[in-house]
Amino acid sequence: MTTELLKRKLGYTDFEVTALSFGTMNLKYLPDEEAESLLHKVLDLGINYIDTSRAYGNSEERIGRYLSGRRDEIIVATKCGCNPHLDRKGSSHVLTFDRATLERNLENSLRALKTDCIDIWQLHGATPEKLIGGPEGEVVEFMQKMKQQGKVRYIGVSIRHGPKTEPGYPSRYGYECIQEYPDWNVFDLFQIVYGGMVRTSEELLQDAADKGAGILVRGVVRDYFDDFPDVFAKAGLDELLAEGEDRRSFLIRYALSHPAVSSVLIGTNNQEHLKANVIVASAGGLEVDRYNEAKKRFETIGSKPGFFVGGIPAESPMPVSS
Ligand SMILES: NC(=O)c1ccc[n+]([C@@H]2O[C@H](COP(=O)([O-])OP(=O)(O)OC[C@H]3O[C@@H](n4cnc5c(N)ncnc54)[C@H](OP(=O)(O)O)[C@@H]3O)[C@@H](O)[C@H]2O)c1
Repeated sequence: MTTELLKRKLGYTDFEVTALSFGTMNLKYLPDEEAESLLHKVLDLGINYIDTSRAYGNSEERIGRYLSGRRDEIIVATKCGCNPHLDRKGSSHVLTFDRATLERNLENSLRALKTDCIDIWQLHGATPEKLIGGPEGEVVEFMQKMKQQGKVRYIGVSIRHGPKTEPGYPSRYGYECIQEYPDWNVFDLFQIVYGGMVRTSEELLQDAADKGAGILVRGVVRDYFDDFPDVFAKAGLDELLAEGEDRRSFLIRYALSHPAVSSVLIGTNNQEHLKANVIVASAGGLEVDRYNEAKKRFETIGSKPGFFVGGIPAESPMPVSS
């Protein structure tokens, strides 16, 4: 079996990104030597896209420290709107979207990553209503200015998902963002939660790609159904697994079957898991028959385009919590 990761065009950018990209949200939990070894392994296995954020502890610093000698081998994507000095352990990130925060974040990201240009600069989880003035507001204006000045090459939004306590988890924000942002015609790419178990935005991803946006998907192998194993079996999805294929591999290949998806973003702190993910992603999308059958079976458990996990129509009003 080949383990060469194919590359796909990232929207209208001039980047070609490997079908598997690497997320560093949990990198901070590793000791230095292991983090260094893992980051080099990522590149040695042929992955060319690394996702980080100001909000991921020392992830940017480690990428800068260990990989600056291999800078030309990676597309580095980071995020802004972050206030790491206010984040507490166990709390969700404190995010603010204004010029001053972005300016501070950019300066710190460039320094930490030891680079003079960030390839992909994303708003970390901004929903449209958080961006005052929308496409004409100061945040978008500042991002575009940084692009013109060459401090960042492309700009995007890493779209947030809701907390598990919320109806429509995890797709509510994702659906709304991917519905609205492409029409602003300012962002070059979107990172969003999507996969077989969460197909809410499946059709909107194509619309966004048709407008030129690059699409990275994450959350592909996460268990968004509380009773994931039961649900997976109930839908008869186990019957679709090829010999030796596990559910995780099937889900990665399902996500890669979507024509709008440039890359599946997965994080791991385990080199064996990393290698396994590379092997799976190297196989690309599912065979057409299996893909079509998978779609039908996902539907039987309520995972279908335009619906949230649990079968709530995406266009329904947000239930008001008491
Ligand atoms: N709002 C945002 O912008 C946002 C939010 C969340 C995440 N992200 C980005 O997206 C990336 C992916 O995050 P995610 O939330 O979608 O999680 P994920 O990367 O899909 O899943 C991570 C989990 O899967 C496990 N895993 C990975 N490969 C495995 C394998 N082959 N076998 C067994 N377990 C495996 C990892 O554990 P091990 O370490 O043990 O392998 C880890 O617990 C993050 O690193 C981050 O870069 C962005």
